[in-house]
Amino acid sequence: MPVESAIAPVLLRWYRSHARQLPWRTPPGSKQRPDPYRVWLSEIMLQQTTVAAVRPYFDRFTARWPTLEDLAAADPADVLAAWAGLGYYSRARNLIACAEAVAREHGGCFPSSEAGLRALPGIGAYTAAAIAAIAFDDPAAVPVDANIERVVARLFAMSTPLPAAKPAIAEAARAIWPAFDGGDMAQALMDLGATICTARAPACIACPLVQQCDGSAGGMAARLPVKAAKRAKPVRHGRALWIERLSGNERQVWLVRRPARGMLGGMRALPGGEWGDTMPSAVAGVSVAGQVKHVFTHFELRLAVDVAQDFTLAVGEGEWWPVETLDAAGLPTLYRRAAGVVLEVE
Ligand code: ADE
Repeated sequence: MPVESAIAPVLLRWYRSHARQLPWRTPPGSKQRPDPYRVWLSEIMLQQTTVAAVRPYFDRFTARWPTLEDLAAADPADVLAAWAGLGYYSRARNLIACAEAVAREHGGCFPSSEAGLRALPGIGAYTAAAIAAIAFDDPAAVPVDANIERVVARLFAMSTPLPAAKPAIAEAARAIWPAFDGGDMAQALMDLGATICTARAPACIACPLVQQCDGSAGGMAARLPVKAAKRAKPVRHGRALWIERLSGNERQVWLVRRPARGMLGGMRALPGGEWGDTMPSAVAGVSVAGQVKHVFTHFELRLAVDVAQDFTLAVGEGEWWPVETLDAAGLPTLYRRAAGVVLEVE
């Protein structure tokens, strides 16, 4: 068994010289606390996404809305559009609701306790612990994300499959947690997991914790943590319609907004009917351009993309958008890909 108390000092020393420079961090060991607004924003963006994917979004958001008050006062449609491409749009809607709640109910300052953070929209148990640790150095907050889970499972050679192993991993993480510098500890484990203790090919030879690691000593690090076999996701089907007209010599496409509730709620979209268990048939007056397969958290969607033969199919509420500037419409990835199907086959 690794000596639990030896792990944090070794890891924190490693972190002082190896921390990734990220725009929401202050340097390791720094007395200066990071800005809770930036920590919160980064944590929401990083849920289920990589640091590399988040960076440009984080930079754009903080340039446009430098403070919580700025974000709370923003037009929600602008925030949703700026989020486009990051996925999981309910997170963007919760982001807006959370900014408004902090501005209105907490005078613009995030609560520093896990419980206070947890009560805000979009902040679950993990995110509350991450913000409490990183922004406020709360020593009782022990966030366990996928990176930390992997590192801890390997350190203690824990072979119970996930998700059943989660409580034991969380307990082991508590056992190695230092009384001070919990924010650095969390981020050191995240960096170790992202750069050395990687999922497929851990570089044990470069790892500061190799002496403490039972998984590495037993030659099983790469196989840990064990994951229970996943069930296949259900498949849903739908259609999207590309309706185009020429206004002067500008090509325009008909865009609608998705209903506020439900998948991609409130986002701009190509028109189309409901998604269901079987593929609906195409309406009259269209030709089929192709299909997009898109994976959501709880299902996979097969979206057939149809092109209208004339623009009289544009009915109900919507707007004509110039095809030339479609990138600026803030279409979610699903509909960007659907548009790509049409624009590529031309
Ligand atoms: N993933 C989640 N939070 C993170 C952070 N603060 N630094 C790096 N990766 C992270």
